[in-house]
Amino acid sequence: MYPKRVVLLLLLIVLLQFSGCVGSKQKSPDVERGRYVIEIMGCNDCHTPDYMGSSAFLPEDEWLVGGTLGFHGSWGTAYPANLRLMLNDISEEEWLVLARQMRQDSPMSWSSILKVTEQDLRAVHRFVRYLGPKGVHAPARLPAGVTPTTDYFNFPEPH
Ligand code: HEC
Repeated sequence: MYPKRVVLLLLLIVLLQFSGCVGSKQKSPDVERGRYVIEIMGCNDCHTPDYMGSSAFLPEDEWLVGGTLGFHGSWGTAYPANLRLMLNDISEEEWLVLARQMRQDSPMSWSSILKVTEQDLRAVHRFVRYLGPKGVHAPARLPAGVTPTTDYFNFPEPH
């Protein structure tokens, strides 16, 4: 009877350790926080193709790869950047600078990103680094007056 219990106990310990190991990668507090900030700030709405409308259940591995659907307006046509490539290319410090210097003649929600705390910006960077690089760079921005060859839609004036 004892050996059986001992075996069960060992099995339980092994299982607990295993789940602990698997969980620890997911549960880095910065990565979790970064995922949360990305979700509540709606970054996926524009930076993840098909995120809006089709599903908020798109696997996170497909998040933030940028897009070829142009945001057309007085600024010309802007394409949501591939954040998976961009943030994996620059250091956390460079990201903090970039996030504070977003261009304002743009459909990008630059006014809300200005309100994100430094700690949360760092968490966003760590989350995107955790996801790793993926996809291809978005098309270059087109100046006003140039008709895009990609799909595009008219976006309201910047805030
Ligand atoms: C309303 C749609 C929209 C939302 C929401 C949005 N973005 Fe963007 N973002 C864009 C577009 C479009 C561009 C390309 C801007 C341009 O070229 O003017 C862009 C560009 C960027 C860039 C590149 C800036 C540069 O200087 O090249 C970064 C970084 C970025 N977004 C991060 C974010 C993050 C982080 C969030 C969430 C907090 C977010 N975006 C939410 C549409 C959006």
